[in-house]
Amino acid sequence: MGYSDFIDLVPKVELHLHIAGAVRATTLVELAEKNGVLLPRPAETLFQWQDFYGFLEILRLGALAVKDREDFARVAYECIEDLHRDGNVRHTEIFFNPHYYTPSGAIYPDIVDGLIEGLERAEAEFGVSALLIACIDRSVCLPSEALEMLDWIAGHPRHQVVGVGLDGAERAGPPLVWVEAWRRAARAGLRRTAHVCEDNQTLFEGPPTHFSHCRDALGCDRLDHGYNMLADPAITARAAAEGVPFTMACWSSIPGNRGPRQQRIKRMYEAGLNIVLGTDDPTFFRTTMNHCWRTLFAATGWQPADARRLSLAGIEASWLPEAQKEILRAEFAARLDALEAALDPADRALDEAVQRPRPVMPG
Ligand code: ADE
Ligand code: ZN
Repeated sequence: MGYSDFIDLVPKVELHLHIAGAVRATTLVELAEKNGVLLPRPAETLFQWQDFYGFLEILRLGALAVKDREDFARVAYECIEDLHRDGNVRHTEIFFNPHYYTPSGAIYPDIVDGLIEGLERAEAEFGVSALLIACIDRSVCLPSEALEMLDWIAGHPRHQVVGVGLDGAERAGPPLVWVEAWRRAARAGLRRTAHVCEDNQTLFEGPPTHFSHCRDALGCDRLDHGYNMLADPAITARAAAEGVPFTMACWSSIPGNRGPRQQRIKRMYEAGLNIVLGTDDPTFFRTTMNHCWRTLFAATGWQPADARRLSLAGIEASWLPEAQKEILRAEFAARLDALEAALDPADRALDEAVQRPRPVMPG
């Protein structure tokens, strides 16, 4: 077996995916038509923007096309199908932003139960387990809306909703703005994460102090991105010593940020940080889990031992109960042993052809 196939077949856990950024273009167009929502551009050019803030705008506009319970079930199901078919993903934890959907009349119980319906149908078909992370977009939400989201979660408890996350523009809502909400989330038994030290548009927007604030004031036990932590060696050393998992994405909304980001991921790995790989917004960025892994392995020169380490790190970083982690550990170890035995030792080729992004309009 060649290296490209090996990377594709490695079993994976995906912990950094926003459902709003994982809807197929064709599905968005159909849902917009069904629900009488006007999209800003035709499907072929929908996923285009000038900068990070333009990307967030398209993300939010697209979300307005997803309205009723069956829409949520469809996008969740298709998302898992994509992770299964082009990622060999066995478990995922998915961000959803309730406040993206309520302006068009959706209510939290329908959002969450629709998503769960799609996830359960997909799990039965593809064998991929999934949990949900309720998320606040800091560019458009106030702290009072984070508290409102916690009320919704408490009023409609579902065991699949295991945590809360913070996405959107980091500079618009730095970590300390969310202390009260994240403390309340902790008291409600929810796990906590946040996008931090991200290169939204520039690295400057996510200073390394945000890492300390997320750990010390927000009690996050996992974090998303983290690239600008490297600007502070002491903070980087602390994160490595604490073993905090960072869910990282090799494919940014800003094409010019992708190469530099991939090299930062390499440096963070070499600095001993606990990294796991995700897609962020796979359809919007025209990527897939396997495309992300191939791209990063090509950019870093990582070897099969690194693939094993990253594959297993995803299980440890997940918020699954220990019993389910144990099952995945055994399954992943056996699969990795078999893949390594079948790998051609002379083949480490990951050329540009295998890194081609996915088409906007499949088929
Ligand atoms: N929402 C979706 N993707 C995001 C990202 N990469 N950063 C912040 N917010 C997001
Ligand atoms: Zn993200």
